[in-house]
Amino acid sequence: MNWWQSAVFYQIYPRSFLDSDGDGTGDLAGITMRLDYLSETLGVNAIWISPFYESPMVDNGYDVRDYYEIDPLFGTMTDFENLIREARSRDLRVIMDWIPNHTADSHQWFADSRSSRSSARRDWYVWRDSADDGGPPNNWRSFFPVVGSAWTYDKTTGQWYLHSFLASQPDLNWDNPEVEAAMHDTVRFWLDRGVDGFRIDALPLIGKDALLRANSDSRQPWGEFNIDWHTVHDRIQRLRTLCDSYGERIMVGEVNVLDLRRLGMYLTGGNELHLAHNFLFLNQPWNAEDIASFVTRVENAFPSPALPSWYLGNHDNPRVVTRLGGGQLGTARARVAALLLLTVRGVPFIYQGEELGLPDSQVPDSCRHDVDGREPQRVPMPWDAPSRMAGGGFTTGQPWLPLHDMAESLNVSAEVTDKDSMLALYRRLIELRRGNDALQAGELTALPMPEGVVGFARELPHSRAVVLLNFMGNPTVVPLTLPGAATKACLLVSTDSARSPGYVDLASVELGPHEGLVLAVLASADAGEATKLAEHRADRYGHVDRR
Ligand code: BGC
Repeated sequence: MNWWQSAVFYQIYPRSFLDSDGDGTGDLAGITMRLDYLSETLGVNAIWISPFYESPMVDNGYDVRDYYEIDPLFGTMTDFENLIREARSRDLRVIMDWIPNHTADSHQWFADSRSSRSSARRDWYVWRDSADDGGPPNNWRSFFPVVGSAWTYDKTTGQWYLHSFLASQPDLNWDNPEVEAAMHDTVRFWLDRGVDGFRIDALPLIGKDALLRANSDSRQPWGEFNIDWHTVHDRIQRLRTLCDSYGERIMVGEVNVLDLRRLGMYLTGGNELHLAHNFLFLNQPWNAEDIASFVTRVENAFPSPALPSWYLGNHDNPRVVTRLGGGQLGTARARVAALLLLTVRGVPFIYQGEELGLPDSQVPDSCRHDVDGREPQRVPMPWDAPSRMAGGGFTTGQPWLPLHDMAESLNVSAEVTDKDSMLALYRRLIELRRGNDALQAGELTALPMPEGVVGFARELPHSRAVVLLNFMGNPTVVPLTLPGAATKACLLVSTDSARSPGYVDLASVELGPHEGLVLAVLASADAGEATKLAEHRADRYGHVDRR
């Protein structure tokens, strides 16, 4: 297996992770200070860091002014080199964001491009005359709803430029080979400095119809012509060749297309992406039938050896606890979701703070500036209770966004010693996954289940795990018939930390309300092994698994 196939990734939003210098904003040195938390306490083995390039920060770094510089807000190249060195010494892989579709409007390339129609870089961006009615060249929309048209008129040269996001994020023209070459140079620069790969922002947007034909639906940004145009695939293949020339480096695409078949085209050929972020999962209703059917559809769309990747939230989306109903209910469901994330076939990504069970935070209007209202999921990481430590352990200064409104009870320091916390559950699940071959590499087989329950097996020839997830608020009993299995299975992890230790009877597995569990299923001949397994879990987590 390659490193990324068995990795558990953790997304760091650097502004909000840890501030090492008291300016109220997280930074690279702060990340380095918490590598032990990530690799030892939590147990992940790869991190994705959201952008830290030099930027005017209108879109918090997704508007790059210079691909070769680190923004002083986040530190220096020396800080970056330390981070890579320290991560490496812990066997922690580091991937960084790469933003190929657009730059900041203050990037030198755009300044040159907009300066005159005859500029040598004019064609590095997408410029067009007005339509016959004097309006924008076509009906393409920005992906930020409040922006509206994806075109802005520029008086200097009397033409419009394209921007799939903010007007201050002009789209690069990937039909121009000079742009592709310049962007490849930026990739080489960071690969030369030791990153293990990239999360590639808004990737399908680097392929657009060169004729700029109008989309059939002018009310929404996803259209036939402005995204996921066939040219994207050759471009990705060339990027893959570049990455492969560096050895084991990876490309994780943010593939913001709306159907699994098209998403599969970025993955299944083996010569494009290693992993693709599939945000369709976030839109699935939280019930057993929809989730079971989605898992099956993903299996069909990306059959092995392709690997799906999974996440419950990120810096662009509401936090999972909130999305699943908030309060106790949202938390109970989020525990089931965590178990699904870390046991389904594919590569899991955890968004910072998710492991603490954070819901979205209330952020006063006076502190909200983001074009898409994404502050509630971006507030600083609560390392400690604000009453014990000013700044919640995030900063000694004034935090750039208010601390999380639940930081007093939901924080690393409180949760690390609480066996019932979300953090304790994540730690158990990550450790289990990392030590369990079937969960890392086994094929997935959906199991027939009673209403309200999702069940699947993860299997290798020598090892089998079964995952059961009760989506209902009432207890239930699942009868399992598994060919060649011993009658009893060993309970490895439950979302219910109070669950009694021991074996369960496969013929009638009891599940509490909103309970998910993982069972080690033994072949009938190895039933004695179950005892050893149970003892092992007791040693590592006496407080949880002494059953
Ligand atoms: C990023 C967003 C960003 C947008 C424009 C995305 O999909 O994840 O945070 O605003 O691209 O770069």
